[in-house]
Parts: sequence; structure tokens; C-alpha cells
Amino acid sequence: MSNPINIGLMGLGTVGSGVWELLEGNNSEVGAAKFLQIKKVLIQDITKNREVDVGREVLTTDPRELIEDRELDIIVELIGGITPARDYIMQAFQESKDVVTANKNLIARYGDKLLQKADEHNVNLLFSASAGGGIPVISALEDKLAGDNIRQISGILNGTTNYILTRMKEGLEFAQALEQAQELGYAESDPNGDISGQDSAYKLAILSSLAFGLWIDWQKIQVQGITDISSLDIKVADKLGYSCKLLCQADKTGGNLSLSVQPAMIPKNQALAGIENEENAIQIKGEYTGDVFLAGPGAGSLPTAGSVISDIIKIVECAGDRYKSVNFFAGGGPKSLNLLAGGRQKPVNPGQQQKIYKKTAGSDVSVEDNDLDRSICFSCSDYYLRISAEGREFSRQNLEEFIRQQQLEIKLFKDDFIKDDFEQKDFFVLIARTVGRGEAKKFCEKIRQNENLTLESVYPVRRENKED
Ligand SMILES: NC(=O)c1ccc[n+]([C@@H]2O[C@H](COP(=O)([O-])OP(=O)(O)OC[C@H]3O[C@@H](n4cnc5c(N)ncnc54)[C@H](OP(=O)(O)O)[C@@H]3O)[C@@H](O)[C@H]2O)c1
Repeated sequence: MSNPINIGLMGLGTVGSGVWELLEGNNSEVGAAKFLQIKKVLIQDITKNREVDVGREVLTTDPRELIEDRELDIIVELIGGITPARDYIMQAFQESKDVVTANKNLIARYGDKLLQKADEHNVNLLFSASAGGGIPVISALEDKLAGDNIRQISGILNGTTNYILTRMKEGLEFAQALEQAQELGYAESDPNGDISGQDSAYKLAILSSLAFGLWIDWQKIQVQGITDISSLDIKVADKLGYSCKLLCQADKTGGNLSLSVQPAMIPKNQALAGIENEENAIQIKGEYTGDVFLAGPGAGSLPTAGSVISDIIKIVECAGDRYKSVNFFAGGGPKSLNLLAGGRQKPVNPGQQQKIYKKTAGSDVSVEDNDLDRSICFSCSDYYLRISAEGREFSRQNLEEFIRQQQLEIKLFKDDFIKDDFEQKDFFVLIARTVGRGEAKKFCEKIRQNENLTLESVYPVRRENKED
């Protein structure tokens, strides 16, 4: 049998423990476990009780014991955050080590620079677990869909917010739903990164970078979190046939890319509307492939660990003679690896993970500026609006009259004055379709200017096809 591939694992928290469990745990059935060996584990608190049974001699608090160990082939970075994770990765490159990470924060902010460094040192950086957790969306983008012209990515990329929105539909208020998510371990003690939409924006930036072939600055994404959503809107939308989701969307139209993360109403006949609890899903629209839909666990110890291990296997499969005699027995039968003869070459990342940073400069795609009203997604044309009319009876006729007077290009295609179904009697909800670009923003402004009307909330409604 060949020598094992030696791995230095940085971090033994949720994901790190999962990687340990899958590769070193007593019941590990991962075929690759025979050939992958975790030699050292970096943690910060040596006295902490661990979920997994790792020998004291394997643990260290000194990163040099991993980075400078010549017997280690691959560093797996699972400590999270920017510093010191970024420094450790850079140092690992200098020591000619390949790196696998799940760190979406780091990749979204510095992915292009890190990839460039990896390239300069002729090593690999893979980050499949950084977006989608256990869902193989990055491998789909860089392998099976690599030949397509991706038009749109849309998805639910954060399990915490999806869990909260699911509970709110059942009647909980935001704060109660968040508390429940924290109790069950779906939300961190500081949930801000999730509920503000930032975590989703990191993931959308990473997926869009791979899909559209240029490194995307996550700060160009229009982001709105879920903190201001009222459970009333969620329940009303449910009644009208929509599910409220924190929707991540990237649309490519010609040479323009528009990117947004925001709560949106999704018609229940669309697959994304059915994604409940902590589940994640991604829909990719390719010019040739059509729609591809992937759903599953977007986070969690073992699903994410599985994705990390698949990156390790990919490196071993493709990277030069260092790993030459390895054979995996993954799945049911033997899987002989496509190993390259000759010196240590680096064809790994046959997809874009390594390549896109180079394309950025010369790319013919540009990201649209994020200067529009943040509550209004400019790639949508249908909107859910909840309006209250203090002490006044309001009807469809009044509203149509109002729209005519204001000369707005807006059609009310679903007017649901369903206030009677709810305790509050002083609001009405409508679904409006805007014709011209910017009309929704104008419509909202006109409502805000009208002293009898209050715009309580506005959310985009996701349309699958323009013809709907
Ligand atoms: N959790 C998920 O489901 C999930 C899913 C996808 C991606 N990710 C990403 O995976 C990464 C790890 O997430 P996690 O949830 O596993 O984190 P976590 O549970 O907080 O674990 C972090 C681990 O890193 C160690 N650590 C932190 N700072 C360190 C430092 N300066 N030096 C040495 N060790 C340090 C901690 O050591 P101690 O144990 O000694 O404190 C701990 O073992 C993050 O980038 C996260 O975004 C997580």
C-alpha cells in the first residue's frame, strides 16, 4: 500500500471535528480515509473538552508545527475569519503545500489574491465547502457546467435565516424564531453575519465569481437582511401563494451582472419556495443546460466535512507525482486515480477556481452599481406591497385611479385586499407588476408622498419567466 497523504488540520470546531470524524473516527467508512491521515491538528485552547477523540500528541497551538512540517502535504484551514487564517494559508503556500478551506469570509474578500499566490507557488487552493456546505454546487459549476454560458444563479444560501423565516410563517415573531434557532444550534450566539445577509452575500460572490468568470467584489452586492421583516408579511404572503425567502440572485444580461441578497416573495409553484428549515438550495440557469436545481444541507459538521474531503481527494487525484501511487476505494468499487506522471505539476482545478482571478482584468462582464433604492431589486419587475390607509376605505378602483393620475406604468395583476383575514383591519396588500425600469421605485415614492397612505413594506416577487 502506498504512503498516506499527510494532512495538517487547522481548527477542530464544528467542521474540523467532522473532518476528523470522517477520516479518523472509529466508524469511518469514507474510502479515502485509508489514504488520508491527519497528522497534526491546530487549535487555540489545549484544555478544551473535544467532541472527537483526538490524542493529545496530535494537538498543537503552534501553527509552525503544521506549516513547517515537511511531511505534511495538504493544509486544511477550518479556523475561520481573516486573521490569522490568511497568514497561515500564505505561509503554507510558501512551504509548497496545497490548501483546502471552507472559509467563505476569507475567500469572498481575498480569494483572488490567494489564488494568485497559490499559482505563483505552484500549489492549489480549493474551497468547495465555502458556499453551499454539503451541496456540490461549486463542483457543478466548475465541472459539469463549465462549458455552459451561465445566465442566472438564484438560491437560498443561509440555513439560519431560512430556519427563522420558516418558523415565522408558522406564527413566531422574528426574535422568538431567532432564539429557537440559537437553542437548536442553527444560529451562532452572534447571529449578525447571518441575519444581516452578509454570509449569503459572501457565498453569492463566490458562486458568481465561478459562474461568470470574474472575481466579484462582494461589496457590490445589494444586501438586505431579514431583521425588518414582520411575521404579518410572511403570513399574508403565504395566504396569497408566496413563500418569503432570503433570496440570493445573480443575473447576467448582456455584459451586465446584477447581484442582490434580499427577502423576496417566491410563488409556491417554484422549487425554491419549498425549501424549508435550515435547508439550502441553488438554481442555476445555463444557456444550453437550462435549469439545474440543487438542494441539501448548506452547513453542518458532516455535510461540510464531506465537501472538504472531496477537495482533498481532488488535489490528490490530479496533482503530480507526490501522490502518485495512491488508490482510493471510494463508494462501492475501486476508483483508480488519474495521476500524472512526471514532476509535480498542477493541473488541479480543471475548473475555474484557479483561473478566474486571471480573467478578471480582461473580462467583458461588469457588475452593475449598487446605487438604487435598497428595498427594490432592480432585476425584478413584480412587487408585493403592503399599504395602510389611515381610517380610509381603499379599493382597487381608488388605487387604479391613483396610478393613472401619477402616470405610472404599473399593472395590478393580483389585488388582494385580504385584510379581513387578519386582525389588523387597516392595510391592504397588492402584487404590482411594473413595466418600465425604475417604475417600482417611483410608485413607492408616490405612496410615501401621499399623506393618506403609508407604505408598510415592499418586497420583490420572483418571476421565473418574463412571460409569467
Ligand atoms: N459550521 C458550519 O456548518 C460551516 C459550514 C460551511 C463553512 N464553514 C466555515 O468553516 C470554518 C470553520 O467553521 P466552524 O463552524 O467549524 O468554526 P468553529 O466551530 O468556531 O471552530 C473553529 C476552530 O478553529 C480553532 N481556532 C480558531 N481560531 C484559532 C487560532 N487563532 N489559532 C488556532 N486555532 C484557532 C478553534 O480552536 P478551539 O477549539 O481551541 O477554540 C476551533 O477548533 C469557517 O470559516 C466557517 O465559515 C462552517
